[in-house]
Amino acid sequence: RQLKLTLEQIEKGGYEHFMLKEIFEQPKSIHDTLRGRLLVEEGIIKMAGIWDNLERLNQAKKITIIACGTSWHAGLIGEYLIEEFARIPVEVEYASEFRYRNPIITEKDIVIAISQSGETADTMAAIKLAKERGAFVYGICNVVDSSIARVTDAGSYTHAGPEIGVASTKAFTAQLTILSLIALKLGKHNGQLSNQEFMRLITELDTIPQKVQEALESTHEITKEIAKNFVDAQNFLYLGRGYNFPAALEGALKLKEISYIHAEGYPAAEMKHGPIALIDENMPIVIIAPKQGHYDKIVSNVQEIKARKGKVIAVVNKGDTQVASVADYVIEIPETSECFSPIIASVPLQLLSYYVAVYRGNNVDQPRNLAKSVTVE
Ligand code: G6P
Repeated sequence: RQLKLTLEQIEKGGYEHFMLKEIFEQPKSIHDTLRGRLLVEEGIIKMAGIWDNLERLNQAKKITIIACGTSWHAGLIGEYLIEEFARIPVEVEYASEFRYRNPIITEKDIVIAISQSGETADTMAAIKLAKERGAFVYGICNVVDSSIARVTDAGSYTHAGPEIGVASTKAFTAQLTILSLIALKLGKHNGQLSNQEFMRLITELDTIPQKVQEALESTHEITKEIAKNFVDAQNFLYLGRGYNFPAALEGALKLKEISYIHAEGYPAAEMKHGPIALIDENMPIVIIAPKQGHYDKIVSNVQEIKARKGKVIAVVNKGDTQVASVADYVIEIPETSECFSPIIASVPLQLLSYYVAVYRGNNVDQPRNLAKSVTVE
């Protein structure tokens, strides 16, 4: 037992939990996922899986993304990315729903399956169905040579390295990185994205590992402090718009998974259609409000929450004054293009859920009732 503990401590690299270690590994895991693919000086994105199947991908009438859990949230952001830059219609489905509802899929379709473990039973079954209907299936997996990686027609690995914590962190941001690369590459080759815009975006994408590093540094202490105030919270709302709506869903999922506090993510504009009824002085609301993308609308959402005395935890860009002046707690992250902002915004949301769970005395790396890889239906 003594030896096992020591080995585990070594594996944790000085961090108290794998989850914290994995959160801090993100500058590296994103960098590793970009390495050899994003060649800014040459102005290209190199991805054999996309390049070899470019014609088929660009002729797709529709792309369907299938996944479960956190990977499904990455898929939602993938939809925004691919539709914005490659202008190909995208649908995102839970693998478990897709497989049981006789979906309209033909040999003209492209299916992208996203899975950290590459072993999720529902995702596997959905791929099998898509292949039976003749679709071309592209895999985005983290575990090399996993079942999903083997069964798909082509794919790209996320190079996040082994993820031990049950709650996915670095695999998620690596998935967003791959999806960004795919969307930009498709858009460049099908002519939907101008060369100038492509260059601007890949130059920005190249800065993301560094900005994630800055986000870790600027948000670690403050999220730890903020978390102390919400150890006894019963509920949380997470709000975001555009690309940060799925980021809000993922933030809420992280909190549920490890702290066991009920949390819901919503597109901020939907607040008025229901969730606003829940807001009182006991309701913490995490609001993702970067400068790029619907900022003014978010400002008015924050004012509506404050008018009802909700407790606002705002994730804003450095130097923000408008949201920051009305929010109860402010978390500052570096500014980036809207399409990459969920990668940066995820960092403080992961840390916040981590510290709330730690203060509640929970087993962060192995939360109750959850499994890292769900190989049953
Ligand atoms: C489980 C894990 C989640 C994960 C989901 C999908 O529920 O606890 O963290 O997001 O499965 O897993 P996959 O390996 O397919 O991405």
